[in-house]
Amino acid sequence: MNAAIITAYEAPITIGRVDTPALTGDSVLIAVHAASINPIDDILRLGKMKDVMPLTFPHVMGYDVSGVVVAVGADVTQCALGDAVFARPSQNDAGAIAEFARVKGSELAMKPATLSHAQAASVPLAGLTAWQALITRGKLKAGDKVLIHAGSGGVGSFAIQIAKHIGAHIATTCSGHNIDLVKRLGADVVIDHTTDAFDQQLSDYDLVFDMLGGETMARSFTVLKPGGTMISIKGQDTENLAKKFGVHFEWFLMEPDGAMLGELGALIDTGAVQPVIGKTFTMEQSAAAYEELANGHSVGKIVVTISDSAANPETSRP
Ligand SMILES: NC(=O)c1ccc[n+]([C@@H]2O[C@H](COP(=O)([O-])OP(=O)(O)OC[C@H]3O[C@@H](n4cnc5c(N)ncnc54)[C@H](OP(=O)(O)O)[C@@H]3O)[C@@H](O)[C@H]2O)c1
Repeated sequence: MNAAIITAYEAPITIGRVDTPALTGDSVLIAVHAASINPIDDILRLGKMKDVMPLTFPHVMGYDVSGVVVAVGADVTQCALGDAVFARPSQNDAGAIAEFARVKGSELAMKPATLSHAQAASVPLAGLTAWQALITRGKLKAGDKVLIHAGSGGVGSFAIQIAKHIGAHIATTCSGHNIDLVKRLGADVVIDHTTDAFDQQLSDYDLVFDMLGGETMARSFTVLKPGGTMISIKGQDTENLAKKFGVHFEWFLMEPDGAMLGELGALIDTGAVQPVIGKTFTMEQSAAAYEELANGHSVGKIVVTISDSAANPETSRP
């Protein structure tokens, strides 16, 4: 099959032929209609996490997939042949930007009926990360005050909408040209990080969702009220600032979860949460898609569509 691959750490992304993933008892094979890309893909490509998440080569890029089930493992109960599904496959099954992807039954959910495959592919990794940060770990509830950094990005755009649905009061940071977008998504207070200091304006927050780390994360501790919580997906509290400010700090790595993705999909079908897609590329343009992501200021998610051959398994060439 055709796929967007790298053949070594730091190698450029090219389109090449690789074996179609072998079906296992607990997995399904999906004819991929669309994938979306995430910063972690490039972090892994550059070998920055090779000690904890080593790659094998050729490595197929991408962790977010939407498509149609074309083969079902003997132990899979969550879906059937021909179902439209979306998923964030686990590390071992990475490889979304390809004609076919393998996903465990426990990691997929039915594609939201109201979304196209391109929209659905934008949801799993970023949407699950936002859900796990705010709900599973942050325990956000109605009336809480939450600061969500980078509200115009992939994770942030989902996080604002999920927090709005919960009934929280939301402050967010973004560049000036994205202020209207994040307000439309549900932000109550918007701070342009290019001109204003959020920590001069915000105080007494229950929760901070940090995805920037570094000095932004360090300054965010001052925004929390005593006993508040900071959830970061980027930085570690190496200076023990949580103790200094009397707050709780947690860093976490998101986990694939088909049941949770199904809940998020149901919420999406109510219209309460909608994907924000900044740009769409074809599989052949994958390298350009990752260049766009690497500039650090993409709006919402970047989607990669897969050609019609994968959409029609009868004419595709595994
Ligand atoms: N631990 C985990 O499990 C996990 C999971 C998912 C993501 N992550 C990490 O979380 C981070 C965000 O991921 P993502 O997919 O949302 O990335 P993304 O879509 O590339 O996010 C880019 C956004 O960051 C914003 N931004 C850049 N500098 C900013 C600043 N100083 N203040 C506020 N906003 C700023 C940009 O907004 P403007 O253009 O408006 O400035 C842009 O919208 C990445 O580092 C990723 O690796 C970790």
